[in-house]
Amino acid sequence: MAVVTLVLLAACTNMRWVEPADEQPTARPTAKPVPATGLRRGINLGNWLDAPALGEWGVDILPEYFTLIRQAGFDSVRIPVRFSAHAQTEPPYTLDEDFLEIVDAAVQHGLENGLNVILDFHHYDELMAAPAAHVTSFLAIWGQLAERYSGKPATLYFELLNEPYGQLDAATWNDLLGKAVGIIRTSNPNRWIIIGGADYSSIRALQDLRFPVDERLIAAFHFYEPFEFSHQGASWVPDSGSWVGINWKGTDKEKKDITDLLDEADGWSRQHGVPLMMGEFGAIARADESSRRTWTSFVAEQAGKRGIPWVYWDLCGEFALFNCESGDWDQSMLDALTSK
Ligand code: GLC
Repeated sequence: MAVVTLVLLAACTNMRWVEPADEQPTARPTAKPVPATGLRRGINLGNWLDAPALGEWGVDILPEYFTLIRQAGFDSVRIPVRFSAHAQTEPPYTLDEDFLEIVDAAVQHGLENGLNVILDFHHYDELMAAPAAHVTSFLAIWGQLAERYSGKPATLYFELLNEPYGQLDAATWNDLLGKAVGIIRTSNPNRWIIIGGADYSSIRALQDLRFPVDERLIAAFHFYEPFEFSHQGASWVPDSGSWVGINWKGTDKEKKDITDLLDEADGWSRQHGVPLMMGEFGAIARADESSRRTWTSFVAEQAGKRGIPWVYWDLCGEFALFNCESGDWDQSMLDALTSK
């Protein structure tokens, strides 16, 4: 009876079903069944369709890479796309057809190779800076994408927005994500939709996520801890040059720092019965080789133990595990990810 009342209340008042943080129990939460998502091990195809203009960041993902990814033991790819750079800036915010055909081909290559494909709206920085000025465009773009891909198999997943931050705070994002899910559901009633929290989709941000009532949502978080290790010398992170040389040896303390965070995410997932995805994690290629391998292997293994699917960042950017010029894998990194 109580459940029926709650459901009715939710339907009548558009109440969010994830309780506010101050009403959440502090003890380990009671487990709720967490639905299986079909995702397990993936790679991000970053720095390609998310560059400001096509080719600007020097990455071109060739059709045969999808086959190599599948053969190497991965089941998923996440395709970050800067849709906002390929849409009109005035209503009806029409997406550029030539660009969409490139996206279509990428999606198709993934699906034809038996991979789950996560289509991810990446780098909408203008939305983060001035949400009110860009929500209409964001929703209009999702309306177009949802219709275009509505006939695709269930192995195509939509990810609403990469790493909300800045002015797109938790409250603003919760409101917007609910609207976007509503728009997508008019043409894709059952497709999995992936949603990360504000604050760059950190694990802590899960606590502030408010989802609409919907059985097919996945909560994403990104994992780069310790950030000074994973992002040492990253060209896009100010002052990261001073972190170069930081190692990760896998001491008990270093491991516990990681497992505590993953436990927090896992606890949230079980409490709410919402599946998770570690949509990005990785360590920059310039880090000490042994540290990088040990960290990557540990994080992937620990996520896997908790049933959290992961997507390594990325194929051939600064965190590469594949050489896009020679077509060769970094074998020790590949083993770190796939041998367990
Ligand atoms: C986020 C950023 C991307 C960056 C990655 C690793 O996905 O959007 O540009 O390369 O994190 O820092």
